[in-house]
Amino acid sequence: MKIIMLGAPGAGKGTQAKKIAEKYSIPHISTGDIFRANIKNGTELGKKAKTYMDQGLLVPDELVVDLVVDRVGQDDAKNGYVLDGFPRTIPQAKALDEALAKLGDKVDYAINVEVPDENIINRMSGRRACVSCGATYHLVHIPPKTEGICDTCGAELILRDDDKPETVKKRLDVYHDQTQPLIDYYTNSGILKEVDGTQDMADVFAAITGILGE
Ligand code: AP5
Ligand code: MG
Repeated sequence: MKIIMLGAPGAGKGTQAKKIAEKYSIPHISTGDIFRANIKNGTELGKKAKTYMDQGLLVPDELVVDLVVDRVGQDDAKNGYVLDGFPRTIPQAKALDEALAKLGDKVDYAINVEVPDENIINRMSGRRACVSCGATYHLVHIPPKTEGICDTCGAELILRDDDKPETVKKRLDVYHDQTQPLIDYYTNSGILKEVDGTQDMADVFAAITGILGE
């Protein structure tokens, strides 16, 4: 099962993608997480990506496409994967379709997690991420057991650099301008599925499994 998660920054793509990956035993491939791991490890890719991410801008397509095409070709992705944060532009979507077509393959579902802009700013200001394992919390909706500490690995929880309100506004503008056109793209290819992302997390997941099957 090959799945793409679409949705605005903070819509809950990562939260749902993790649950999908667990339930269906497929890898969760998040380009944002890949970039953040590269930033943390001080790689050349990380240094380049950070200059764009900190401004709320997209990393250029040429730094993303090969990385994802290579990742989905790895052994653990043979039975499928859930892509979170990719594609984000029409050229990225076309590059993915072309790379898969060469292998006689295609994406099965593009799930759009729909959340209005008004809800997004609140969600992002409450999000806390683990500096070590990347687990995500929300101060109100999913608080950690101990304030400021990751339940899973015990490391510190921080506000992501790009979750400051001015940067979130920029990311929303970039989303509407460059990523939202993918909704028409996948509607036209017949694989778009819409989910109401303003519901409780468990209800969003129930809607998704209703689409993907048990
Ligand atoms: P990325 O890491 O992908 O960030 P994003 O798309 O902006 O999305 P987020 O991770 O912020 O939100 P999410 O939808 O995963 O929501 P989450 O589940 O965490 O990308 C970061 C940057 O990397 C980009 O800006 C860009 O620069 C670069 N980049 C990445 N991919 C790229 C690409 N393909 N091309 C170019 N550049 C790229 O949820 C948010 C919060 O809400 C959490 O606190 C969560 O607990 C809470 N929450 C979730 N669901 C619910 C719910 N149902 N009810 C209440 N709260 C909820
Ligand atoms: Mg995410």
